[in-house]
Amino acid sequence: MRVLLTGASGQVGHEIERLTPTGFELLARTSSQLGITDASAVQTAVSEYKPAIIMNAAAYTAVDQAESESERAWSVNQIGPANLGKAAQSVGAVVFHLSTDYVFAGDLNHAYRETDSTGPTGVYGASKLAGEQALLAQLQRSLILRTSWVFGVHGKNFVKTMLKLSNEREELRVVADQRGCPTSAASIANCLWELAVRYQKAGDLQWGTYHFAGSPACTWHDFAQEILNRALQSGLLDKLPALRPITTQDYPTPAQRPAFSVLDCSLIQNTFGICQPDWRVDLDKLLEELRQD
Ligand SMILES: NC(=O)c1ccc[n+]([C@@H]2O[C@H](COP(=O)([O-])OP(=O)(O)OC[C@H]3O[C@@H](n4cnc5c(N)ncnc54)[C@H](OP(=O)(O)O)[C@@H]3O)[C@@H](O)[C@H]2O)c1
Repeated sequence: MRVLLTGASGQVGHEIERLTPTGFELLARTSSQLGITDASAVQTAVSEYKPAIIMNAAAYTAVDQAESESERAWSVNQIGPANLGKAAQSVGAVVFHLSTDYVFAGDLNHAYRETDSTGPTGVYGASKLAGEQALLAQLQRSLILRTSWVFGVHGKNFVKTMLKLSNEREELRVVADQRGCPTSAASIANCLWELAVRYQKAGDLQWGTYHFAGSPACTWHDFAQEILNRALQSGLLDKLPALRPITTQDYPTPAQRPAFSVLDCSLIQNTFGICQPDWRVDLDKLLEELRQD
């Protein structure tokens, strides 16, 4: 089965390519090989390759920068998925698309379900929400996976930032009043391939929007604590900096982030039997990969 991957050099894109199972032929396209905002380039690529599945790992993901570069963020995150949906429709392909916990306002007192009201607090979240809607408007056979707090071996992420800063500073100050679910890029890729295998076998899927994120939920400060402790244990760090909890107010950023963006992942488990991965296990794997680098 042919799969076209966009955003192949991103954190998740890279893992999708690396974890391609047998039985699939993958055409992986980076941003320079295929820009998803270019409707005619997307149409040409799709018409020529005729994939059965398009996996979209391309996005504008710079949450703070999006506030000052909103046109670009909207173009990639809204127009991009619309272009992919339209091209998919023309060849009978389906689209697996990624979205974010930042489509939510973060003011609930229970984990967010797919049916909960959205209410993005910044340009990034708003543009990603618009992308979900634009894709669904073009293509009913779309599967949207909302995920959160992604980390992986490729690209920039919180794990790598914590490790770098630990080598440079005596003290790290990390926000302790935002709660979410760290998720490894590899676990997202595995989830997408699991869905692709099901589609390949059955010729159909229960289309729609699903939440998929790591467990257990934690704050950025908890996440940092785990990263540092595990990095010390694995020999990646030889000393620990002091780790101080701070509030969101202590660390102002251009984009406002949801205080609580924990995703309830029971729908994907009940529908497909796909369980939440323990991000601490994935973190150990990542640290081991970094140690061997
Ligand atoms: N990172 C997170 O914490 C997080 C959290 C929740 C959801 N998500 C979602 O998960 C998905 C994957 O995120 P990620 O962390 O893997 O992001 P990433 O590492 O930033 O990768 C995004 C990729 O998209 C590419 N891209 C940007 N503009 C493009 C365009 N116009 N055409 C084609 N490709 C383009 C980028 O290429 P260049 O680098 O060359 O620009 C990059 O390779 C995204 O949908 C994101 O919204 C991420």
